[in-house]
Amino acid sequence: MAPSLEDTTTDTSAAGVDDELAAVKSRVTVVGSGNWGSVASKLIASNTLNLHSFHDEVRMWVFEEILPTGEKLSEIINRTNENVKYLPGIKLGKNVVADPDLENAVRDANMLVFVTPHQFMEGICKRIVGKIRNDAEAISLIKGMEVKKEGPCMISSLISDQLGINCCVLMGANIANEIAVEKFSEATVGYRKNKEMADKWVQLFNTSYFMVSAVQDVEGVELCGTLKNVVAIAAGFVDGLDMGNNTKAAIMRIGLREMKAFSKLLFPSVKDTTFFESCGVADLITTCLGGRNRKCAEAFARNGGKRSFDELEAEMLQGQKLQGVSTAKELYEVLSHQGWLERFPLFSTVHKICIGHLPPAAIVEYTKP
Ligand SMILES: NC(=O)c1ccc[n+]([C@@H]2O[C@H](COP(=O)([O-])OP(=O)(O)OC[C@H]3O[C@@H](n4cnc5c(N)ncnc54)[C@H](O)[C@@H]3O)[C@@H](O)[C@H]2O)c1
Repeated sequence: MAPSLEDTTTDTSAAGVDDELAAVKSRVTVVGSGNWGSVASKLIASNTLNLHSFHDEVRMWVFEEILPTGEKLSEIINRTNENVKYLPGIKLGKNVVADPDLENAVRDANMLVFVTPHQFMEGICKRIVGKIRNDAEAISLIKGMEVKKEGPCMISSLISDQLGINCCVLMGANIANEIAVEKFSEATVGYRKNKEMADKWVQLFNTSYFMVSAVQDVEGVELCGTLKNVVAIAAGFVDGLDMGNNTKAAIMRIGLREMKAFSKLLFPSVKDTTFFESCGVADLITTCLGGRNRKCAEAFARNGGKRSFDELEAEMLQGQKLQGVSTAKELYEVLSHQGWLERFPLFSTVHKICIGHLPPAAIVEYTKP
């Protein structure tokens, strides 16, 4: 079992007051410890040390892996304070405790931060249902959706429905490695009704180099974060075909238009203004310029579509997961089920290229308005 930390923030001799304070303080657990999960833990841990309303310790659930040295990843994180596999060279903060036992990691927390690749979330929810606190609140940093027979299910809804708890989202122009070295960026929290809770999440994540604001539009924020990965795949094809900046900008504009149209068709409550927040146009730009989806799609196009995305992901990302290809497939299922394929030429063409039914050059042929 992972070690536990003593709190150091309260300095009072009255044990009763200590106990009372400890009882009202929030406890945070981060479920996930990949690249972004590790950076999120670092951000949060720097704040819980300074904010009296939170326990110092941030528990981070680690999907256990044995590294080539024979050591367990969770043990190395607790010994070195670094996630040597997913975020090498960055200290997470001594108050981050890696815990490979999922149930133990979530048991005492009233603030749960979910940040794993989206395909694992359904299984994770099944494992912890009924094993979390009744007053727990959640936030999802996960980009992606689940497609069910009844239609698409956003990850925040999956968490809310399966665990019976409220779930906000946090999305933005956030390439994890840049935030890890404390370069300035922004993010957006999306909330449904509870503004007070949204403010608490903002307080937990906000730092001098990570500026967070809240908007009342969970679906809009989450769909921006999810759909931009598909546009980034298209941008990567453009790069791989050396089509230049004008073409890439055109693809980004068409992609943004499809993101907005799809979000509003699915959830008429989605607000136009959300697309101008960090989760919208800013995330789209950073992902199309620098993210892993763009990078792998560029390699895919340079190889003329002859090397599969699975192969490229394994070779180029060393255990990190590509989201855009699976999201394009899920999106295609929704579009075809709804009879919307012709209204979303960029989204559908990306999927057809990914599965080899069209060549990479089709990205401009088929998406012209
Ligand atoms: N990395 C970024 O820059 C970034 C930025 C914003 C949002 N996100 C989003 O954050 C989410 C998490 O991404 P990440 O970058 O932290 O992860 P990652 O892709 O770096 O790492 C993959 C993670 O999945 C874990 N894993 C592997 N198999 C698993 C299994 N069967 N069950 C559970 N976990 C398993 C691995 O241990 C690892 O922690 C994704 O939805 C991603 O889109 C990432």
